[in-house]
Amino acid sequence: MRVLVVGGGGREHALCWAIAASPLCSKLICAPGNAGIARVAECIDVAADDLAGQVALARSQKIDFVVVGPEVPLVAGLADRLTEAGIKVFGPSAQAARIEGSKGFSKDLFRRAGIPTGAYERFTDVGKAVDYIEACGAPIVVKADGLAAGKGVVVAETVNQAIIAVRDMLSGNRFGIAGASVVIEEFLVGQEASFFALSDGEHALPLIGAQDHKRAFDGDKGPNTGGMGAYSPAPIFDAAMQKRTMDEIILPTVRALAEAGTPFKGVLYAGLMITDQGPKIFEYNCRFGDPECQVLMPRLKSDILPALIATADGNLRHFDLRWSDETALTVVMAAKGYPDAYQKGSEIRGLEAASRIEGVEIFHAGTKADGNRVLANGGRVLNVTAVGRTVEVARDRAYRAIDLIDWPEGFCRRDIAWRALGSQP
Ligand code: AMP
Ligand code: GLY
Repeated sequence: MRVLVVGGGGREHALCWAIAASPLCSKLICAPGNAGIARVAECIDVAADDLAGQVALARSQKIDFVVVGPEVPLVAGLADRLTEAGIKVFGPSAQAARIEGSKGFSKDLFRRAGIPTGAYERFTDVGKAVDYIEACGAPIVVKADGLAAGKGVVVAETVNQAIIAVRDMLSGNRFGIAGASVVIEEFLVGQEASFFALSDGEHALPLIGAQDHKRAFDGDKGPNTGGMGAYSPAPIFDAAMQKRTMDEIILPTVRALAEAGTPFKGVLYAGLMITDQGPKIFEYNCRFGDPECQVLMPRLKSDILPALIATADGNLRHFDLRWSDETALTVVMAAKGYPDAYQKGSEIRGLEAASRIEGVEIFHAGTKADGNRVLANGGRVLNVTAVGRTVEVARDRAYRAIDLIDWPEGFCRRDIAWRALGSQP
């Protein structure tokens, strides 16, 4: 099979790494890819959100199967365009991808299907939104309806902050059209977990859970980021919690989307709050998590490609996957300044030595090759990933590898998995 992976971050490196190991894959292309992906796939410079370019590439390369990594092309309809071109694809249609592309759409679906989530209302009018915020009080969460590159959520600690956020969004200049409508949502108290399940439109297959660290600095301080590290399994997300999540959240979602005439084919990524009353969902993503995918793939013992194909073909009903009991942990190395302004182009040394540490795999995110040199080319740059018998072993391996990487222009958190380890270092 000739396979194309769309995207060029750490998530896509982990997917390419897993797909390249499949005996079913005869040729692997990644567009646009990065310096690390280039070791396991041929990288071709077509942007992930260039829909026409990706379809043309899939055609000219005689691709049998496309795996779409990021949400932007999915929400824009890349899966539909590939399907129209007769090319099999892993990833939902634009209609089904609204589960991530419109927070209001997903919240209305939760309400309709009786899925546990925070109380909420949707607004386009500032005055009505302000009245609602004042009636509810703080803390309260304000969300731009559309995609906002992870920046569209404001967890407001005071009524005033919430009102400022609503004005920012609804006045139209903060997130453009993505902020022309907002969801105002109850603040949920608990620990966050990420859970993943494949859906073929009718059946769902549970994958595994993970925990991510969203804040930039140690101790979960500093600004929100795309994710600074992750680990799996997360002790809080045990087998009983997974079963409840499947029964109360994932399966009703798959049914509701099918009933609406927009069956979801791809991976459902549930952003969960584990509350006193059990799991509640605060958001869906229509793709694998980044960096969560970088800890899912190392724990997967089965061939991933047949599972992705069964998802696209509607054949998940009798499918099963085997997972390792070991812990996988990934630490993000980012360019200093991230998630705000940062510089590109600095050289990263020591990757060879670091990747020789037992159990370590280094997935590249924003990197670029320059001859034999590897240069930083983004905010999140590397995902130093390790597996080990325990979370301590995995963590020690990952940080031993990091200490061999010579990149003064980068930084990372030193406390990934502190919750699983029971305390902050
Ligand atoms: P997002 O940018 O959509 O990933 O959301 C950013 C973060 O906002 C999440 O990781 C949660 O920590 C937080 N969040 C979103 N919704 C809620 C909620 N209803 N209650 C508490 N925290 C939330
Ligand atoms: N890890 C956060 C995300 O993928 O959105």
